[in-house]
Amino acid sequence: MNTLLVTGGAGFIGANFVRMVLDEHKDIKVVNLDVLTYAGNLENLDGYLDRDNHVFVKGDICDEVLVKKLLEDHDVDCIVNFAAESHVDRSITGPKIFIDTNVTGTLTLLQAARDKQVTRFLQVSTDEVYGSLGKEGMFTETTNLSPNSPYSASKASADHLVAAFGHTFGLPYNITRCSNNYGAYQFPEKLIPLMINNALHDKALPVYGDGMNVRDWLFVYDHCTAIWKVLTEAKAGQVYNIGGCNEKPNLEVVKLILAHLNKPESLIQYVKDRPGHDQRYAIDASKLMTELHWAPSVTFEQGIARTIDWYLAHSDWLNHIVSGDYQNYYDSMYQGR
Ligand code: NAD
Ligand code: TYD
Repeated sequence: MNTLLVTGGAGFIGANFVRMVLDEHKDIKVVNLDVLTYAGNLENLDGYLDRDNHVFVKGDICDEVLVKKLLEDHDVDCIVNFAAESHVDRSITGPKIFIDTNVTGTLTLLQAARDKQVTRFLQVSTDEVYGSLGKEGMFTETTNLSPNSPYSASKASADHLVAAFGHTFGLPYNITRCSNNYGAYQFPEKLIPLMINNALHDKALPVYGDGMNVRDWLFVYDHCTAIWKVLTEAKAGQVYNIGGCNEKPNLEVVKLILAHLNKPESLIQYVKDRPGHDQRYAIDASKLMTELHWAPSVTFEQGIARTIDWYLAHSDWLNHIVSGDYQNYYDSMYQGR
């Protein structure tokens, strides 16, 4: 691999991935395509925008002409697609953009990747495509896709398209399906950064339903190392689950955050449940661990402590993101570029 197109590389996981690649794999050129929605933010790439081997392009993955031109101009040979609308609650109030970005956008990338004959297309998917579990069992790569929310349905559609391009056109692809991530630069609408931000401001912490829905948490850096391993070591056409065996009920996570911040549990407010709320996710990542020898670098306790400390040390970032000030930051960064 010489030149890697990363889409959505100004979002939470994409920015962590771009930082990791630029730090640890300096021989790779990264072309970073991100349209900068509310969730994409150039502050997430602070210190990395001017690297010689990093080209940031503000643009849409649905823009066929732009995508094709980028692949040609930079002679891209691999693609990792992070770009997406990613929040379940937003997909309930406004599903259409999820189809536009997650399905049509992925199709646009696939067509361009096929035409350019890239050597690998890695689709960053999610465990949510498998649907919801009861008390027992785990998702494996052969579990049927059974998505429940507009978000997960759009991601499952994209997964099917990626596999279809492999089958029909011989596109060399991989799909990774990861559990819930946490870590630095996550937009404070998702559970962990939202609860940290609210607790810091002594605002109510809205727990949906009884707080007993279970998610399987993975530190974002460990998701990035897993994607890198799949991209560089996996056989084409393989799907890998990614997860760290850290199942927690939401309430336990919220209480842990409050304890770490020395805030009272009276801040917890039980609110109306999310419609169609998936009960439990649990990932069996043994294929990735045995075939590619991947393992997470931190325990949940280490990762969450590191994450809370990061948000404490980056209150400016949190305030910018929440207030929308990052648009001004973007304009000032990009004057004349
Ligand atoms: P995010 O919402 O933080 O970031 C998404 C990024 O994509 C943003 O920078 C946004 O500007 C960009 N984007 C959106 N629409 C675009 C478009 N049309 N063209 C170009 N860029 C566009 O999301 P995230 O949490 O970093 O998730 C990244 C990927 O990982 C997604 O595909 C998501 O489905 C998947 N995933 C996320 C998690 C998680 O816990 N966050 C877990 C498993 C998989
Ligand atoms: P979220 O971070 O939105 O991720 P996902 O829905 O993709 O798993 O939510 C994680 C869990 O936390 C989920 O069970 C919903 C719950 N939740 C709350 O209880 N309150 C909140 O304010 C949010 C955003 C989520």
